[in-house]
Amino acid sequence: MPKAAPTLTPVALLPSLAPLLHEWLPRQRWFAGKGRPVTGFSLVSVTELLPGTLHLLVRAEQNGAAPEAGPGDVYQLLLGVRKVLPPPLAPALVGHATDGPLMGQTVYDALQDPQVAALLLERLRTPGRLGPLRFGCDADIPVPGGLAPRLLAAEQSNSSLVYGDTFILKVFRRIHFGVNPDLELPLVLARHGCARVPAPAAWIRTDRPQDATLAVLQPYLRDSEDGWQLALRALADRRGFTREAHALGRATAEVHTALADALPVVTLGRAQTELLAAAMHERLEAAAQAVPTLLPYVPGLRAAFDAVTRVAASRPAQRVHGDLHLGQTLRTGGGDWAVIDFEGEPARPLAERRRPQPPVRDVAGMLRSFDYAARTQLPWRPEWAESCRDAYCSGYAEAAGTDPRDEPELLRAYETDKAVYEVLYEARHRPDWLAVPMAAVRRLAQD
Ligand SMILES: Nc1ncnc2c1ncn2[C@@H]1O[C@H](COP(=O)(O)OP(=O)(O)O)[C@@H](O)[C@H]1O
Ligand SMILES: [Mg+2]
Repeated sequence: MPKAAPTLTPVALLPSLAPLLHEWLPRQRWFAGKGRPVTGFSLVSVTELLPGTLHLLVRAEQNGAAPEAGPGDVYQLLLGVRKVLPPPLAPALVGHATDGPLMGQTVYDALQDPQVAALLLERLRTPGRLGPLRFGCDADIPVPGGLAPRLLAAEQSNSSLVYGDTFILKVFRRIHFGVNPDLELPLVLARHGCARVPAPAAWIRTDRPQDATLAVLQPYLRDSEDGWQLALRALADRRGFTREAHALGRATAEVHTALADALPVVTLGRAQTELLAAAMHERLEAAAQAVPTLLPYVPGLRAAFDAVTRVAASRPAQRVHGDLHLGQTLRTGGGDWAVIDFEGEPARPLAERRRPQPPVRDVAGMLRSFDYAARTQLPWRPEWAESCRDAYCSGYAEAAGTDPRDEPELLRAYETDKAVYEVLYEARHRPDWLAVPMAAVRRLAQD
């Protein structure tokens, strides 16, 4: 087993890297701990992936981190080390090391280096191990060599490399230890023959210090457009979106049916529904404390959650997408809808994300998304969203055999939970958008 050279041990490397990361890491879009100062770094693992390229898991210690996060979030970095950075790589600069074993060297984000990206794909083509890293692949999905890489510029919470317009490698940035549903569920769905989800072709995991999924390679759906962009275009052109919404409902139902066939379906007991409702109440409480505009609506919203304890017991629960919205769907050139990004809500612990849940939770997420899309345009056309919501539910009902509208209490509770989350998010990050979820809150509090 290759061992890191003595100079590349976590302890030795820290003085070289910590000052650079202090400046660079909090500026990255995928850095989840914005607004809280980083108090220190520790290196969870260091592997020399290629000569001059280090694979790192780095813990950023921060005050006020969520208690379940432990001492701080862990991030995955691929860092290149060179004497001088060639001009095309200037935007990838992390910094110049002035201490430790890398003293005098230039450190950069190696995912932006096409040479490294190309070698990474080569490494992914054969299963095996490298130190704590485990490379796996599906022998039935051959990955050709020599595909040209490009880093995706899309707004996202991870980093993705597209290879020759045929494969996309999602490199997770914030690492959660445990089974990551973004590899788990697409693998299950692919093995079950569900074609709605791009099938994982290769992946990188680690088993030290604990299990974690680090990257997933999937077929790249070229000529595809995401549902959010398509919906906004329809709105701008003053077109309806019901045909698309109907097809999206079908696609969602197909994914749910496949997940229910392939993985356990449980019946929610009294205790579980009480927990479910309690968690919703808790999130509302926290949101209302942070965003006092919510306060007048709290009693109405609480009623929506209380209904869960009355109706949810004895309902089936199964694995779901967990963070379904228009931006997590792609329409291919051929007109088919695909569903991507099964990570769930990144802010919630993995164990919670992997729990069986009523499938209407995903439906509620998509319904909120139609509302959001409609609200981006003035004059606001509530009937646009309303028609999409109906078409989506009809499409879902046709393919699933059960209509989400037959569970109005659960649907309302999940929509409310989502809207409350949106209020908190918008208040913190995009105050201009706060009116969008607040409109939903007013409606949901009255229902
Ligand atoms: N298989 C794919 N084919 C084409 N584009 C994709 C594919 N997977 C992801 N993308 C693009 O990458 C973006 C981010 O992917 P996603 O898995 O949602 O990552 P994140 O967790 O960072 O949101 C998507 O919105 C889409 O534009
Ligand atoms: Mg996404």
